[in-house]
Amino acid sequence: MIREIVITSWNNAGRTHIAPMGIHDQGRQYLVMPFKPSTTLDNILETGYAVMNCTDDVRIYAGCLTGRRDFALCNTERIAGKRLAGALAHTELKLVRYEEDGQRPRLYCEAVHEASHQTFRGFNRAQFSVLEAAILVSRLHLLPWKKIETEIEYLRIGVDKTAGERELEAWHWLMQRIDEFRKTHPEPAGVS
Ligand SMILES: Cc1cc2nc3c(=O)[nH]c(=O)nc-3n(C[C@H](O)[C@H](O)[C@H](O)COP(=O)(O)O)c2cc1C
Repeated sequence: MIREIVITSWNNAGRTHIAPMGIHDQGRQYLVMPFKPSTTLDNILETGYAVMNCTDDVRIYAGCLTGRRDFALCNTERIAGKRLAGALAHTELKLVRYEEDGQRPRLYCEAVHEASHQTFRGFNRAQFSVLEAAILVSRLHLLPWKKIETEIEYLRIGVDKTAGERELEAWHWLMQRIDEFRKTHPEPAGVS
């Protein structure tokens, strides 16, 4: 099963990086697969640790994909790193195995500590829409406009019907990014 979470990682100079990732939950291990080049990859290889943050604040997903990474952090509990201050829960990970790949290496991690901080209050359709739109934004250079338009049109239904303020703000950032991209790339060729 793949879980959409936010990874916090840091380098040896103590600079923390935030990035959404879909990580494979394999029961005893978590598999992280960053596409190269990746700061998350570099950081985990440098320090051997990372944090998996569970959050329903979808502004963090949309923010990271639109150049906004200024989200509040706090210290982790068992390892010397940072987590999202607003995380519902977090898991501190240790890298246990690395498989190199020219495009998408595999980082196998194990949990060394986890903690819950806030109550999960239920699924929200607009949050799903924002996550999917954020993934589209990460692939704008690969997709034809027809596909982007069709998917956004569908995802907008969940936003219109169920969004709160956080979801609306996140959606707005993503739509802004798509508009900007469209102005500079009027007719992208690509895979469908
Ligand atoms: C829900 C979601 C899941 C993502 N999953 C991955 C992933 O598994 N691997 C990856 O390389 N990028 C993934 N991305 C895109 C990265 O978050 C984004 O490209 C980021 O900048 C990764 O590069 P970095 O480590 O240099 O920050 C995902 C984005 C979203 C919104």
